[in-house]
Amino acid sequence: MLSIRTVLGPLATILLTVLGPFGAHGSGLADKVIWAVNAGGESHVDVHGIHYRKDPLEGRVGRASDYGMKLPILRSNPEDQVLYQTERYNEDSFGYDIPIKEEGEYVLVLKFAEVYFAQSQQKVFDVRVNGHTVVKDLDIFDRVGHSTAHDEIIPISIKKGKLSVQGEVSTFTGKLSVEFVKGYYDNPKVCALFIMKGTADDVPMLQPHPGLEKKEEEEEEEEEEGSTSKKQINKNRVQSGPRTPNPYASDNSSLMFPILVAFGVFIPTLFCLCRL
Ligand SMILES: *[C@@H]1O[C@H](CO)[C@@H](O)[C@H](O)[C@H]1NC(C)=O
Repeated sequence: MLSIRTVLGPLATILLTVLGPFGAHGSGLADKVIWAVNAGGESHVDVHGIHYRKDPLEGRVGRASDYGMKLPILRSNPEDQVLYQTERYNEDSFGYDIPIKEEGEYVLVLKFAEVYFAQSQQKVFDVRVNGHTVVKDLDIFDRVGHSTAHDEIIPISIKKGKLSVQGEVSTFTGKLSVEFVKGYYDNPKVCALFIMKGTADDVPMLQPHPGLEKKEEEEEEEEEEGSTSKKQINKNRVQSGPRTPNPYASDNSSLMFPILVAFGVFIPTLFCLCRL
């Protein structure tokens, strides 16, 4: 199958080269970025020249996962998909503290991709900035489907010692604290994040969603009875993952299982042999 990415990839590169002087490169997008981290991963410089540091929480909070390394990430530049392939998650709320010295207009960009669950309502969590809930009930799979980049773009204004975000205001003392909040569902996580000076318009957009057009053509026949209302809802969503539940969903240490079985067979066998 000639995927849309193989076509879009080179096209984007050509566009970037042609529009370069007017776009990201010329206006020094990377210079506006004051802090960037590749959560759960190593340092990386993206196609815009943004330098993501390796995760400062490594060995301190939560777990780094590279579960997504074997998956291509839709909507991402192929060169930058590593940003979405690694992640940090934690069994409790966790976050990053970002020092901000100058007042002004900023944009916080949070990068996500669901590489593990193949259903909605598995991983659902909030994001808070200095105590303000800026993203409520984020369900990455529900928003974009499996192994697909999803960016949350949050404009923030800091003026006269006050932080304003989404119409809420609080006292600002030089530190932006971005928190991924544990809820009732699976662990909160993040793949990468950065903060830059500027407005939402300055943030590079993700590539077009590959599932949107495909969905129209491939609108599958639903066989389950009484699924009409469900189908209505699903129409607005894009689902690229299979509908079957992920067999690993409840257990990340599934590698342990064969090992345990092996021991369970080995020890009794040994025991029996000794008694002969
Ligand atoms: C299992 O791993 C995935 C992928 O890294 C992660 O998103 C999820 O939170 C983990 N689940 C548990 C229960 O540890």
